[in-house]
Amino acid sequence: MKKLLLSLIVMASITTGCAQKSLVLYYSETGTTKAVAEELQKQLGADIESIEPVEPYTGNFQETIQRSGRERESGQTPALKPLKKKIADYDVIFLGYPIWFGTYAMPIATLVKENDFEGKTIIPFCTFGSGGLNTSTDALKKALPKANIQKGYGVRTARVKAAERELDRFLKENGYKEGTVEKLPDYSAQQPVTDEERAIFDAACSDYQFPLGTPKTVGKRTTPDGTDYQFTVTGRGMDGAESTSTIYVTVGKEEGAKPEFTEVVR
Ligand SMILES: Cc1cc2nc3c(=O)[nH]c(=O)nc-3n(C[C@H](O)[C@H](O)[C@H](O)COP(=O)(O)O)c2cc1C
Repeated sequence: MKKLLLSLIVMASITTGCAQKSLVLYYSETGTTKAVAEELQKQLGADIESIEPVEPYTGNFQETIQRSGRERESGQTPALKPLKKKIADYDVIFLGYPIWFGTYAMPIATLVKENDFEGKTIIPFCTFGSGGLNTSTDALKKALPKANIQKGYGVRTARVKAAERELDRFLKENGYKEGTVEKLPDYSAQQPVTDEERAIFDAACSDYQFPLGTPKTVGKRTTPDGTDYQFTVTGRGMDGAESTSTIYVTVGKEEGAKPEFTEVVR
């Protein structure tokens, strides 16, 4: 009898197609990731919770660099307050964080040590000065081999206003929200940069606090909003060795729009 009941329940849940329950779970030190998390929550109508270290980071850049540097070296990740929401109640987790030292911030290092997220679908989202979505996604895949880590979304701190529009596209494109969007074209093949393209690169990158390198080749595409550029750039990494990165730049179609770089992929 018990067996029959159980199989009836299973059948009912298959035929009705159990709705996936989503949680937006994030850490934010200075509010940028929080703003993106709240936008996501609004667009998804999902539950939301922030991750809180027992001893909060101060919000002072130098202090956080020093403390998290010590924590990274010693492997002592910060203790977290217990979550109010139960991870077990959710199928899909949008996991948000700032990029620190090229990967997810230290509180996430604690979270992934303490939870294996087995069977959960995880969609990373992050904010950064220049980039780190790809590197942090790879690190999550390594740290959480039992979870199903999906393609994520990242935005520069300086462009956080673009998150509302970009998230709408991201969520629709990946089937997390109803509605359709026109697929963006592929970039054209890489060609040596012209003087005009170099000027666009400089306008987008020269006021960034760190040098981003010299653009060598570029591919382009036209979108409903303007033109996107994919620059291949050479420069010197932290260790002084020559390195190549890809830097994405976008220029809005309005007259006089300022070129902005959207992401550095290292
Ligand atoms: C300790 C520390 C390390 C950082 N490392 C990087 C980095 O490697 N790459 C990067 O693009 N931004 C880096 N940033 C910038 C943050 O990712 C960015 O300011 C982020 O939007 C902050 O998010 P929050 O306001 O949610 O805390 C770092 C910031 C801090 C405090």
